[in-house]
Amino acid sequence: MTSPSNCRLWSFGAPGIALGLTMAIGGTSVPLPSAATARAQGRTVWDRVYSRAQSARGEAAYKLSCGYCHKDDLSGGFMDDGVGRAVPLAGPHAFNSTFEARWKDQTLGDMVYAIASTMPKESPTSLPLSAYVDIVTFLLDRNGVPAGETDLPADVSTLRAIAITPASH
Ligand code: HEC
Repeated sequence: MTSPSNCRLWSFGAPGIALGLTMAIGGTSVPLPSAATARAQGRTVWDRVYSRAQSARGEAAYKLSCGYCHKDDLSGGFMDDGVGRAVPLAGPHAFNSTFEARWKDQTLGDMVYAIASTMPKESPTSLPLSAYVDIVTFLLDRNGVPAGETDLPADVSTLRAIAITPASH
């Protein structure tokens, strides 16, 4: 949100992520390449881009840093103030929409930026990039996106080259 927490991302050695976040926070459009470019290159989230071991790591990280608001079963819940509501992150109302509707025409890079720059709500960008990527693979798993054999790398250009498309793609 504010620049102090944003700056922490520079220490990850991933300036691309910091740049992407800066652009997102600045309210300008998503970083290049776009999902359309990624689609043109043919790689989508349905190409078994993460491993089961990775989503299991993501689940553990999620339970530590996210589950107390979004619930361990991802069903979402009200915050302590009874006003704010942590949205469901899986199931029929995932992301107050559906997984595919919320993230369509974006890349996995966009999804990681969106989450890393805003969550955990009380301390955005506080986790290492690799933990955000692992958590995203856990969210993919719970939203019906199948696992493969290899990990999704915590690498900006790789993440930006994988498009999120409808399952029927
Ligand atoms: C203190 C409670 C809290 C914690 C901890 C928390 N969230 Fe959230 N989250 C929220 C609330 C509330 C929202 C609704 C949007 C908002 O108020 O910013 C939200 C929204 C979201 C969204 C929807 C964003 C969108 O643009 O559609 C995602 C995805 C998400 N959180 C993921 C996570 C992940 C992953 C973690 C752990 C790294 C996490 N959250 C930790 C409270 C929390």
